[in-house]
Amino acid sequence: MPDELRHAGREHLDAAHAARYDDIEDAGAADEIMLLRELGIDESATVVDFGAGTGQFVMEAASTVRQVTAVDVSPVMLGRLEQKVQLTGVQNVECVLAGFLSYVHKGEPVDLVYSRYALHHLPDFWKALALGMMAQILRPGGILRLWDVVYSFEPAEAARWLEAWMASVPVQAESGWTRDDLEEHVRDENSTFTWLLEPMLVKAGLSIERAEYSEDRMFARYICVKN
Ligand SMILES: C[S@@+](CC[C@H](N)C(=O)[O-])C[C@H]1O[C@@H](n2cnc3c(N)ncnc32)[C@H](O)[C@@H]1O
Repeated sequence: MPDELRHAGREHLDAAHAARYDDIEDAGAADEIMLLRELGIDESATVVDFGAGTGQFVMEAASTVRQVTAVDVSPVMLGRLEQKVQLTGVQNVECVLAGFLSYVHKGEPVDLVYSRYALHHLPDFWKALALGMMAQILRPGGILRLWDVVYSFEPAEAARWLEAWMASVPVQAESGWTRDDLEEHVRDENSTFTWLLEPMLVKAGLSIERAEYSEDRMFARYICVKN
């Protein structure tokens, strides 16, 4: 088994990054909840969020579903969420320090598995296995909402699209992502192509109901349903 903590991304183990994460990243959690409600995720629903980080989605979900399990391999990222849970006193959030591959699900299959900007930390072979495990903890008809850095360009076009992405952020920034961050992502992390990821979803026993690609070809968002 890979050491998931070692693959978790340098910045996610850095307490200073975890402390400023919510200032530089808006996970769009309210819109995500609205979309998921339209798809039938209601107050009776149970949810597992893999790579939950500081828990922007988890905290929003906690007010609209029955139970949320937040899974993250980084103690500092999950620690930020644990603070929010303590401060707000929410009772229906469980934080689990584990990875996609090491998490052991106890209890009934869930209605929703959520994962945003985290699966790219695993190499492709392990992504396929992790997706299989996510599908296993979903009830039939349950939803996987997956959102990640996934490339929807052809290999021969890589230089053009990656350079355009790099150029879209400043070289240096007071706050927010920089060119160095994006270079590090492409060089050291494991984002893959849509045409590699999508067959993995299908192999995992999921039907891809919706696939959206960003105009810059760097991000993909999926709604999948467990067969
Ligand atoms: C960019 S953050 C995204 C956090 C949150 N999902 C959001 O959208 O704001 C990526 C998160 O994935 C976590 N992560 C990385 N590798 C992981 C793994 N193998 N299993 C679980 N979490 C992982 C990191 O610790 C980090 O908190």
